Amino acid sequence: MNPPNTIVAIDGYSSCGKSTVAKELAKKLHFVYVDTGAMYRAVTLYFVRNRVNLDDLHQVEEALKNIHIDFHKEEDVTHILLNGEDVSEEIRKMHISEQVSAVSALKAVRQAMVKQQQRMGSKRNVVMDGRDIGTAVFPHAQVKIFMTADPKVRAERRYLELTQKGESVTLEEVFENIAHRDYQDTTRKESPLTRADDAIILDNTELNQEQQLEFVLDKVKLAVPHSII
Ligand code: DC
Repeated sequence: MNPPNTIVAIDGYSSCGKSTVAKELAKKLHFVYVDTGAMYRAVTLYFVRNRVNLDDLHQVEEALKNIHIDFHKEEDVTHILLNGEDVSEEIRKMHISEQVSAVSALKAVRQAMVKQQQRMGSKRNVVMDGRDIGTAVFPHAQVKIFMTADPKVRAERRYLELTQKGESVTLEEVFENIAHRDYQDTTRKESPLTRADDAIILDNTELNQEQQLEFVLDKVKLAVPHSII
């Protein structure tokens, strides 16, 4: 049976603009936006700060018990809180991007995050983006989009974003990080990144933001016409 609320699942590769589309779509539909990558990044930040040994399951499980993640919306901008602290900026830094794939590959971490994500989408209409939303978190989501783009284009976009924020990185470093995360995300044992059979592919290599939003809005209109207000 279909859930009474509507779930739009947006999965895809690193840095292909999932969150930009998801945010815009949620705004347009008056849905709640959930950035699941930010949740894995927040866990990673906690693990880095507390020097959690990823090979020690007991340490990982104990750390997870001490992690509380919340989203807080303020004037259209969603902030992520790790145990009450706004870590929205910190989790985007390169040192977290370098660790996050290893942390998100851990079964215990995924179980804890998936549980929380399912709770978040159990009653409300949500647009959720990530890697396993249409396959593992909400396999019955009414709309599933799988986003992809040329890795070089993704690296250029991400490089611009990081350097505009003042991070000193090279384009090669960003490209390497994206390639590495693609590899880890698609080959890990626990819920690897893969397109759900019923997901619609959105390759945005040559699309601007407006065109992408139009594309996903069309798909939502077709699948759940009553969601459009
Ligand atoms: O979307 P992002 O780049 O902020 O995600 C950061 C990392 O988190 C990404 O390398 C893989 C992981 N991730 C995941 O394993 N499952 C999700 N649902 C979302 C992100």
